[in-house]
Amino acid sequence: MIAGEQYHHDHTLFARERNDTRVLLWRLKRLAITESNRKHRFLQRKLAALEQVTPSMDAIYRLPLLTPAQCARVVAAADAWAANVGWSRERHANFPTNDLQATAIPGLMDWLGPRLADVLLPFVEARFGLDIGGLYLVDLFVVSYEVGGQRGLEAHEDSSLLTFSCLLNAASEFRGGGLYLSAIDQRIALPPGEAVVHAGKWLHQGLPIESGRRVILVGFLGHRSVDHEAFADVD
Ligand SMILES: [Fe+2]
Repeated sequence: MIAGEQYHHDHTLFARERNDTRVLLWRLKRLAITESNRKHRFLQRKLAALEQVTPSMDAIYRLPLLTPAQCARVVAAADAWAANVGWSRERHANFPTNDLQATAIPGLMDWLGPRLADVLLPFVEARFGLDIGGLYLVDLFVVSYEVGGQRGLEAHEDSSLLTFSCLLNAASEFRGGGLYLSAIDQRIALPPGEAVVHAGKWLHQGLPIESGRRVILVGFLGHRSVDHEAFADVD
């Protein structure tokens, strides 16, 4: 039995994106802007990628991912490594977070990797209809939101097919914060260890904390059957 609970599903995200992309392509055609144009080529690639997405992929779920002890273990490993190398601010070009790449934290992936393989990937396969053999981790990182530093993250889309995020420290250690899914107007504030899993394309934001410190684990997933890099919006 696969654990986890569906948060939201209205099958609108990718259908809307496909429709918008078709309209843009139609407008370019009316202007006699065709295959040779860079924007036209980009939109065609985007539409082809969006057509690879099944309706099950715009659902939003919550999933028990880590135990409280495992959460504490991730935070301890991240803090120990940050004491040596500092938190990075430059790993994501458009919406940088105060973070550390999980694979760079000594010893962390030895147990976290198998945990994700055992719990997250079968869940994604069952719920999003993506066979496990084609799934891969694009990025995995620990984010530290702090008063006096980065308190949250403005509304954005991720450059992933799917994103999961999971609180790692106790809710008593901060006020405010939480994942706000702007596209569906819902604030999600789950206990430590419970992950939210959603398409990276859903517009979302990290609400600013008002006090203390909030540490989360964020992962970007891709699948070899979907050209998710083509999902990005074009001007
Ligand atoms: Fe994000």
